[in-house]
Amino acid sequence: MLAFGGHNLLLGACLAIGGLVAAQSATTYVNPSVPTGTPVPGVYTGALRPQVHFSPPAGFMNDPNGMFVDAAGVWHLYYQYNPTGVAAGNQHWGHATSTDLYHWVNQPIALFPPEEGVYVFSGSAVVDADNTSGFFPNQTNGVVAVFTLARYYDDGSAGPQTQAIAYSLDGGYSFEYYDKNPVIDSTSSQFRDPKVFWHKPSKKWVAVIAFAQEFVVGVYTSPDLKAWTHASNFSHHGLLGAQYECPNLVQVPVRDSVGGSVIDEEAYVMTISVQPGAPLGGSATQYFPGRFNGTHFETFDAATRLTDFGKDNYAAQFFSGLEGKDAVSIGWASNWQYAQTVPTGPAEGWRSAMTLARRSYLTNATRIGWVLVDELVDVTPVLDIVLQQETWDGNGSLAVDYSAVESNAIYIDVNVTGLDASLVSGSSLFSLSFSSPVSGETVRSGFYFGGDQPFFVDRGLVRGFDNVFFTDKFSTADVWNATAGTWRFQGVVDRSIYEVFVDGGVHAGTFLFYPTQPLTLLSLAAADLPKGTKVSVAVWGLESAWARYEDQNGTVAGNVTGSAKRDAYEADFKLPEV
Ligand code: FRU
Repeated sequence: MLAFGGHNLLLGACLAIGGLVAAQSATTYVNPSVPTGTPVPGVYTGALRPQVHFSPPAGFMNDPNGMFVDAAGVWHLYYQYNPTGVAAGNQHWGHATSTDLYHWVNQPIALFPPEEGVYVFSGSAVVDADNTSGFFPNQTNGVVAVFTLARYYDDGSAGPQTQAIAYSLDGGYSFEYYDKNPVIDSTSSQFRDPKVFWHKPSKKWVAVIAFAQEFVVGVYTSPDLKAWTHASNFSHHGLLGAQYECPNLVQVPVRDSVGGSVIDEEAYVMTISVQPGAPLGGSATQYFPGRFNGTHFETFDAATRLTDFGKDNYAAQFFSGLEGKDAVSIGWASNWQYAQTVPTGPAEGWRSAMTLARRSYLTNATRIGWVLVDELVDVTPVLDIVLQQETWDGNGSLAVDYSAVESNAIYIDVNVTGLDASLVSGSSLFSLSFSSPVSGETVRSGFYFGGDQPFFVDRGLVRGFDNVFFTDKFSTADVWNATAGTWRFQGVVDRSIYEVFVDGGVHAGTFLFYPTQPLTLLSLAAADLPKGTKVSVAVWGLESAWARYEDQNGTVAGNVTGSAKRDAYEADFKLPEV
């Protein structure tokens, strides 16, 4: 399904030294229109451009890749990147860093194709602090990226997908290809997306890799990230769709309740992204809670669960380096059904944003059992001003005109307590909508508290994008905790993305919407709730996380020596030592 642009330079190094180099060369192929050693500049002011979500400076982005947090607390996000077009193809690894998961600094492209016609597909990265790989005799911040190299022939047909590694001596900012790639060879054109982590009890690296069209996740182990042994297969679980992609296996704490204390640190979650053919159409990610013994993963039960009740969160990846803590992930906020046709391409020269970062743990929720709870990571770094804060006894309503909020991004936090389930009726409703007073376009959402009713989102009244697959109504049944009588909603509306965390994060949803006019009016109401129910509502205007890096022309240059905003980067980031 991926279309690739033409490539007109014959590469070199590998061929030029005429067979001296076995397998893959350690050099790279650089398309002359792709910048090396300097970030791609971007303009983040477009009306559809999210302000607290990551999106690439220009061009096309898909899956998050290589995510790790380093010893200094810098979060590294890499991503599938076509720097030369606004559709998929020509895959590199773009790179950005953050210390709070909201303010991102664009870095130079980190991984380039090894040769013409071979693309750097999805994969992961780990810090090899103990130098198991032998690449890092004199340092503890060495990074190894493990990824798929996908070959395409001139006639467009797909060649083999093999697994390769590259290492970074500068903490993840630039990489050298290992000179004995591939580390896992293959003749299959459907074998990809290695996700690696360190398994402490067995003192081994573990990789999960998708045999995409056989619906198998292969588990491999390695002492050094170079020699890999096949250990087991996790096959035909849950939804198949037409392909398995981007598996993750991650250690996740178990809490005794939503927001409760950790009772087990040994559980794991396997995620598998499927596409096309997900239940809502196109792409979706499913997960399986269970146990992992170093070679085999076993699920706790036979159920299939989805990470998101919208259709715009795919191929999420968990940061490595967080074992023993809440897991943190970021997903690609799109769907292959329309990712390459959304209006941001022609209008603003970029396509796709990431979801906000989510902090996750497992718990046994009321009636539904195992659930991966997703919380928004601490949003305070981008909170700007309180637009409205109110507490209601039962019912209430408010309207907030946020047209003066420069970012056009807002955060809503609603806490309901003292809710008596026996007094709730079918019409007990919490609702919120965002609209444009100019065009009348509206995104509406809400929750019926009575008897297993849904939380819903409707983006059908927004008119800037018409596509048969851009389905518009979504809902999820939420069995709220009647014993505790509490319910929490968090939502972020960011120009063209709406993200919701329902019932303390038991359900999360990501929804793209493309208005012809900015949505600037929030209406929020609680109706037919029993007296004595306390509803606390806070609405915040969000800061633009990109504006502080803009130069006088509105361009975000990224981490560039001598850029107008160098001071801002230095204040925010510990720059790598060169
Ligand atoms: C998932 C995916 C991966 C692949 C990458 C290519 O969206 O198809 O399986 O590695 O995108 O860009």
